Amino acid sequence: MTRNHKIAVIKGDGIGPEIIDEAIKVLDALSANMDFNLEYDEFLMGGAALDEAGVPLPDETIQGVKKSDAVLFGAIGGPKWDGVERHLRPESGLLALRKEMGTFANLRPAIVYDELVNASTLKPDVVKGVDIMVVRELTGGIYFGKPRELLADRAYNTMVYTRDEVIRIAHVAFEIAMKRNKRVCSVDKANVLEVSQFWRETVIEVAEEYPEVELTHMYVDNAAMQLIREPKQFDVILTGNIFGDILSDAASMLSGSIGLLPSASTGKGVGLYEPIHGSAPDIAGQGIANPLATISSASMMLRYALGEEEAANKIDDAIKKALSKGYRTGDLGAYDAKEVLSCSQMGDIIAKYVSK
Ligand code: IPM
Ligand code: MG
Repeated sequence: MTRNHKIAVIKGDGIGPEIIDEAIKVLDALSANMDFNLEYDEFLMGGAALDEAGVPLPDETIQGVKKSDAVLFGAIGGPKWDGVERHLRPESGLLALRKEMGTFANLRPAIVYDELVNASTLKPDVVKGVDIMVVRELTGGIYFGKPRELLADRAYNTMVYTRDEVIRIAHVAFEIAMKRNKRVCSVDKANVLEVSQFWRETVIEVAEEYPEVELTHMYVDNAAMQLIREPKQFDVILTGNIFGDILSDAASMLSGSIGLLPSASTGKGVGLYEPIHGSAPDIAGQGIANPLATISSASMMLRYALGEEEAANKIDDAIKKALSKGYRTGDLGAYDAKEVLSCSQMGDIIAKYVSK
């Protein structure tokens, strides 16, 4: 029997629409040849929503997303909206959506494809074989903590984690580690921050339920250094919202380009699938963005949200094949490209490979 999946699509701003179009091209090529149907509903968020509806996260988007099986999202933001009040900024739309959907667990895999070991700014022997999963807490911490205020002569935010918040994200990290190499490195700043001390003590408690998993702890400054020095020491990195934001950008450069890294945000119900990169306004509309992070995010969506493992594997294989044949978008093109492709040409190649 044909399976039906309902996907809410949020293209967003900047390169968002271009990269999402390529992911949909690939998903369509897959579903045409497989036993499932995909139905897409488009919703507005970010700057596009602000321009059209006066708010960065319209109610219609929240309702639509809740009725879907998964959300595929591009990117939001840009200099056009730099002057607007904080609660109306495009980013506030994304943060509110994450909170609204309860997607507290953000999984950001940083994998170095063998074909791209020369594309990293680090030495090939440092990055070859890197396979890290960053598990970032996404709906708490300093991003959401209250009180917060911008005053004339000072401003402040609050970094807060509750016991439940730490416990549930720690379980996610340990469960993932059980399916991988059974190592979790929890990253915090426990030498300075009470909230981090609390994080660490709580993670240690949760670890008791996973005796097979080796738990280590690292301060975030050291973790940033170790990621660059010897990234292969990491299996699963478990960390809070802001540290995870920073470390996952750093980890992305091990792979050669931030344009390659997908993410899955899961939690209570419907999950959100998005590339880790931003809206890249400087290259928007030029057709040169790398769509692979978004196409990989679509693969994570098929695997985690829709149970379409075979289709997900087809995407992953197609990406590896395209890279091994020397196809590169401009962000990777300076290295060993046989051919530098536009965003839509890369989408065409992946769509072709998944249809076979
Ligand atoms: C990310 C982004 C977002 C974040 C921004 C756009 C709000 O940097 O997904 O990593 O900080 O979470
Ligand atoms: Mg970020």
